[in-house]
Amino acid sequence: MRFFIDTANLNEIREINNLGILDGVTTNPSLMAKEGITGKNNIFAHYKAICQIVEEGDISAEVLATDYVGMVREGEELADIDENIVVKVPMTKDGIRAIHHFTNNGIRTNCTLIFSAAQALIAAKAGASYVSPFVGRLDDISTDGLDLIQKINDIFLNYDYDTEILAASLRHPMHVLRCAEIGAHVVTAPAKVFLDLFNHPLTDAGLKKFIEDGQKLNLR
Ligand code: G3P
Repeated sequence: MRFFIDTANLNEIREINNLGILDGVTTNPSLMAKEGITGKNNIFAHYKAICQIVEEGDISAEVLATDYVGMVREGEELADIDENIVVKVPMTKDGIRAIHHFTNNGIRTNCTLIFSAAQALIAAKAGASYVSPFVGRLDDISTDGLDLIQKINDIFLNYDYDTEILAASLRHPMHVLRCAEIGAHVVTAPAKVFLDLFNHPLTDAGLKKFIEDGQKLNLR
């Protein structure tokens, strides 16, 4: 399973990338705005900086337009920034049309704001490289977000779609582990979620004891 970090913060991307466990980055307009990035030149330069940190990973860059023509124009510009850019497109009729266009023109896509298996099926049929079901936001409205990951996985296994499941809006380590059990291809989460995966109190206690006993060995 691949790990993508869900942030536009360069320091967080560097931190997880330096651990050697990062396979890509997902951003969205809210995450870019959180970093205070404004203006087309600055936004494009920021995406380029992300691509330079994660040299071989896919970087999702989201279109802001909501109409087909605007999405195609923006998506083609975003794809020109770097070969690792994946154009992120919202799950709408215009978005699906744009994904179909991008697929036919060799531009990879991530269909975002997926909240049902039906939407994931439509995106796969249009040729999306990734579908992004939002687990946490479904949990927020008392609907089992992980159940959606399971359903999409079951459906995709019945056919030979190239579309990969990119489980998004993950909020804690158990979301990641359950996605791994189900077989999601990719998870995207904030840095804290990945850092929390490292933790176990028995590791801390065990290491403390090894250090104490190691000092008795008098290696010098
Ligand atoms: O990748 C989608 C993600 O950014 C949404 O996460 O926590 O805002 O629901 P969240």
